[in-house]
Amino acid sequence: MNVVREIPEVMHRALFRTLSLLTPQKQGAILRGYFDWWHRKPDPWALGTDGYELHKYKTTLGLLPARPYKRILEVGCSEGVFTRELAAVYPQAEITGIDISQRALERARARNTAAKVEFLHANIVTHRPGRHFDLVFCAETLYYLGRPDRLRQASAGLGELLVPGGLLVMVHPWPEAARLHRYLDADPAVVKIDEVVDTTAHRPFSVSLYQAHQ
Ligand SMILES: C[S@@+](CC[C@H](N)C(=O)[O-])C[C@H]1O[C@@H](n2cnc3c(N)ncnc32)[C@H](O)[C@@H]1O
Repeated sequence: MNVVREIPEVMHRALFRTLSLLTPQKQGAILRGYFDWWHRKPDPWALGTDGYELHKYKTTLGLLPARPYKRILEVGCSEGVFTRELAAVYPQAEITGIDISQRALERARARNTAAKVEFLHANIVTHRPGRHFDLVFCAETLYYLGRPDRLRQASAGLGELLVPGGLLVMVHPWPEAARLHRYLDADPAVVKIDEVVDTTAHRPFSVSLYQAHQ
């Protein structure tokens, strides 16, 4: 056990689990304030520069089947660092990023000026965009939702975003990903078609690929 890394992580999860005792609306209001504060400085997780994050992006993109994706969604997009990678790899696609922090989205818009990229302010627990996508990403976000009912609600919402045959890509730390992805593993609307667990990094992670039924 890496005590230095795991104790802060346990406290972090306990904080967000406590917030999830509130109603989804009150939880959402606090998360909005928290993540605006967290983004008080640009790129607070160093997503654009940290070698670990860039390795995770590369691993994620390397797992995707080659398809002519038309509509792509990234939930919990922060400042649009990965969104920019997506726009470079899939220039033909319409790409939507959503995040609970307005401040993050302002920077995401500045970073992604292509006409085909848009950003929406929304809470993934309660937001239902009413549109469907052939590729959906959710990375490093589910552990903020707290207790199981919020995770179940968000997981069901993610599955519903897909067109028939569409792909959902989930990226979270391993082995916690087994807990965070369990509602998708049990969701009859999708089937897990691939998973890579990278244990070579200082913080192991899992990339799981789910496909909606045709
Ligand atoms: C660690 S960042 C992940 C960024 C990006 N997915 C990546 O891996 O490069 C997590 C993001 O999730 C957003 N977030 C947290 N809870 C959310 C919620 N309930 N709805 C929408 N976004 C949320 C935060 O504002 C933050 O920008």
